Parts: sequence; structure tokens; C-alpha cells
Amino acid sequence: MALYPLLRPLAFALDAERAHRLTIRALKLLPGGEPAERDPHLSVRVAGLDFPNPVGLAAGFDKDAEVIPQMLGFGFGFVEVGTLTPRPQPGNPRPRLFRLVEDRAVINRLGFNNGGLEAARGRLAKRCRGIVGVNVGANGDSADRVADYVRAVEAMAPVADYVAINISSPNTPGLRALQDHGALDDLLAQAVRESGPPLFVKVAPDLERDEIDGIARAAIERGAAGLIVANTTVSRPPLRSKRKGEAGGLSGAPLKSLALERLRDFRSATGGELALIAAGGIENGVDAWDRIRAGASLVQLYTALVYEGPSLAQRINAELKRLVALNGFATLADAIGAAAD
Ligand code: FNR
Repeated sequence: MALYPLLRPLAFALDAERAHRLTIRALKLLPGGEPAERDPHLSVRVAGLDFPNPVGLAAGFDKDAEVIPQMLGFGFGFVEVGTLTPRPQPGNPRPRLFRLVEDRAVINRLGFNNGGLEAARGRLAKRCRGIVGVNVGANGDSADRVADYVRAVEAMAPVADYVAINISSPNTPGLRALQDHGALDDLLAQAVRESGPPLFVKVAPDLERDEIDGIARAAIERGAAGLIVANTTVSRPPLRSKRKGEAGGLSGAPLKSLALERLRDFRSATGGELALIAAGGIENGVDAWDRIRAGASLVQLYTALVYEGPSLAQRINAELKRLVALNGFATLADAIGAAAD
């Protein structure tokens, strides 16, 4: 895919959301690739699932599950689709997606624009091999948000390898309050099923110590499989780009150190009892390696894909393989949490 350096200026000349829509349309025209082969040095077993490599596509790129085989074909070890809500919804008024090129970042306030569970379920039912997680959320106008999550988990159970409970989007007012210990405990008490798919809770990077402890306790006690750390941030580290003042969630390079810090916090709060999936500013093999050593079993990315193109997953996997050997580990799985207290 050495084509991307040529395509990027064309895509960047367009409004970010239009460019994304066109990208999805173009990808749909490509034949689906084969999912990545299991790499003996990089494969990881998490929540009963065998991941061929640890580099996943984060939620938000393929919200409606339209291009799963294509993304798996680019070498991602797994793809997370969504966020999907029970009913379709249009999201916030445009413009609502902004590239911050000088910062290698994005700000979005999309607000869960998606075609709804039912439409995606049909597509997911037809998919073939490869690990696919389904990220679910509540409708913005829902009277009972917990019921939305429970319904979404039930609807997706037959077609998802895992379900991610997204309670950390900053673009649905009040949603992040579900990260409160009591609220999350209640949600998980209803959503976790012995016979259901493994559930991962996706958290914000903007959390204090006591909130982190509360989330960790609820997740462990209620039988969640793990945590995804983290979603976009509402904080604003120093930024240079013109669009830095836009409201919404910030992702990409400026999120890197904050997301790594939160990962370390969650590793110490869970004592290694829960699987951790790291996301936030991962753009190369060293970033992924830092998260693995800090306790992540898997990593995910989205924003770096915008800047680096679709060969990025393969590149990070190649770099990870070198780092595993260079640091004297037999496999990547042996290095998980190696730098944690
Ligand atoms: C996202 N992200 C996201 N997360 C989620 O759980 N549900 C979603 O619908 C979306 N939508 C979304 C749209 C856009 C345009 C972006 C950039 C991001 C968050 C994403 O999955 C990830 O957690 C963060 O972006 C941090 O990772 P990166 O982008 O820094 O690699």
C-alpha cells in the first residue's frame, strides 16, 4: 500500500468526514482480504479468543460494520466495529470531525452517528473468519440507557467475538456518568451473562484515582473480561493546529502519554486480574510495546491510520516482533505487564 502517500493529500483536501465516507465507500469496492495468519511470536490468547497478533482497529472507523474483511486483510489482528446504538441515529450537526494535522491528532464530536444494531447485525451474521468485537452504546435520547446496553449485548451476542461497552464517549451528554462505580455495577449486573460473549468496558482517559478503583472493582466483581483504556480525551494538552479549539474528543499523538498513564493506573488497580486493551495515540511499534509492557494484552488504534495509511498494522507488527526478540522475550505474551509493578 505504498499508494497512501499519494492518496493522502487528496483525502486531506476534503472535509474530514467526507474523506472518511469516501474511504469506506472505496474500501467496500475492494475484495475482502484474508485475516492475518497467526504469528507464533505475536499471537495472544485473551478472554478465550486466539488473536493472531495484538494490533486491532479501534471503534469508530467502521461504525456500521461495512468493511470488516478489508480491514482484517490489512493485517489487523482484530477489528472493533461500532459504536452501534439500538436505534439508528444521525449524530450531531456537521461539521463534527476535524483533523489537527500539525498535531497528528483528530477532534470528533460525531455523537454516535450509526445505522443501528439491526442493520449491522445482518452484515455481521454474514462475515467469515477473523476476530470481530462489537462496540455498543446508548441512544442519545434514550429514557433508560442501561436497558439500551443490555439490549445491545443480547442482540450482538450471536455475531460478536466480544462486546465493548462504551460508557466513555464525550459526545453523548451524561453518558460518562455510567463510569461511576454504582452505575457501572448495576449495568454490568444486568449485561454480563455466563453464556454470553466476553464483555470489555471502554473507559475515558479523564478519570481520577477513586473513579479508576471503582471501575476496576465493578468490572472484576461482575465478571467483565477486561477494560479498553482509553477513549478520546476532553482534556487539551498543548496543541498547535488551527482547529484546536473545537469541542469534542481529542485522539492521536497528543493523547499518547495520558492514555499510557491511565493504562498504568488500571493495571495497578486491577493487579493483573483483568485483560487490558490499550488505545490512545499508538502510532508505531515502540508505542505498542510500551503499552504491552505496562500491562496491555492487546492494542488498538484509529487516528494514526489517518496519517500513516493502511499498511500501519503490518508495520507495527513487524516492529513488535523485532522488539520482542531484542528484549530477550520468546513471545510477546511473555512481555505483557513486564514493566508493571
Ligand atoms: C473514535 N473513537 C470511538 N470510540 C468508541 O468507543 N466508539 C466510537 O464510535 C468512536 N468513534 C470515534 C470516531 C473518531 C473519528 C475517532 C478519531 C475516534 C475512539 C477510538 O476508538 C479510540 O479510543 C481513540 O481515538 C484513541 O485512539 P487513537 O485514535 O488515538 O488511536
